[in-house]
Amino acid sequence: MKEKSIIKFENFSFRYDSANEFILKNINLEINKNELVILAGPTGCGKSTLLRSIIGLIPHMHGGEYKGRVIVDQLVVNDVKITDLAKKAGFVFQNPENQIFMFSIERDIVFGLENLGTSRTIMKERVDSILSLLKIEHLATKAPHELSDGEKQKAALAGILAMQPKILILDEPTSLLDPKTAIDFINIVNDLRKKIGMTIVIVEHRLDLVVGIADKLIILSNGKIIENNNPKQVLHYSNQLIPEIGIPVISRLYRNLAKSNYDFDNVIVTVKDMVKEMRRKKFND
Ligand SMILES: Nc1ncnc2c1ncn2[C@@H]1O[C@H](COP(=O)(O)OP(=O)(O)OP(=O)(O)O)[C@@H](O)[C@H]1O
Ligand SMILES: [Mg+2]
Repeated sequence: MKEKSIIKFENFSFRYDSANEFILKNINLEINKNELVILAGPTGCGKSTLLRSIIGLIPHMHGGEYKGRVIVDQLVVNDVKITDLAKKAGFVFQNPENQIFMFSIERDIVFGLENLGTSRTIMKERVDSILSLLKIEHLATKAPHELSDGEKQKAALAGILAMQPKILILDEPTSLLDPKTAIDFINIVNDLRKKIGMTIVIVEHRLDLVVGIADKLIILSNGKIIENNNPKQVLHYSNQLIPEIGIPVISRLYRNLAKSNYDFDNVIVTVKDMVKEMRRKKFND
C-alpha cells in the first residue's frame, strides 16, 4: 500500500542533554502528504523541539536522550545525515536574521543550491522563478541589512523553496511582522501549497491567521499532544482548549452564540464565514 503519511513519530521521546526532564513525551503522530498543519501550545511546551526533531537538528546537532523513531519521507531521522534530511524538509526560523547571511538575496538563494550540488543553469532558473513566485524580484540584488523584516522573511522563504523541499517547516514565521504583512505571508504560503503541492507544518501563535487554511490543528501541552484534528473540530468541540493557544475571537463568538442556542448550519472559524452566516440569517436575541 502507498504510504499516506510523510512525517511519522513513533513512541518518540526526547530529553536535552542539559535537562533533567523529557521535553517531548511519547509522541505518536502522522502528518499526511500535502497537509497544512498548525502546531500550537503554550511557551516552552516543546513546539520548536518537535520541529527540530523533524529536520534532524535533533539528534544530530542537539544531543540528548532519544527514544522511539521519527520518519521523514521514508528516512529514519536518527539513521541518516542531516544533509539528506535538508533535501526533504526546509526550515524557516522565527528570526530571518539567522537564515540569510550572504551579500545579496540572490547570492543567498544560490548558496543553498550550491550546497545541494545544483548545476549553474538550473540555479539561474530556480532563482528567477522563486523570486517571481514570491513577487520579490526587486530584492534580488539587495543586501540583507537593506530589507525590512517582512522582506527578510520572504527572502528566507525563497532560499528554502529554491531547494524544492517536499516539506516546509515554519517556526513562528509571522512573529516579527505587522498584521497585514503577516496575512500576506500566510497567503503566499497557502498559494504555494496549491501551486507546488507541499506538506507544511507551521508553529503559529496567531491562530486566526491560519485556521481558515489549515487541515489540522495540533495542540501540544507539556510535551504531549492533547489535540490533533480538523481546526473546526478542535476549536469548537474540544474540552481541552487552553487559553495560551490564543483561541481566535471568531471561535469564541461562535462558541458563545452556539451556547445561547443560535442555530448555526456550519462550524465557523473565519470572519468571512461569520459575516456570511450573519447575513444569511436574521439574528433573534
Ligand atoms: N537546546 C536546548 N537545551 C536544553 N533545553 C532546551 C533547549 N532548547 C529548548 N530547551 C527547553 O525545552 C523546553 C521546550 O522548548 P521549546 O523551544 O521546544 O518550546 P516552544 O514550545 O517552542 O516554546 P516557545 O513558544 O516559547 O517558542 C523549554 O523548557 C526549553 O527551555
Ligand atoms: Mg519555539
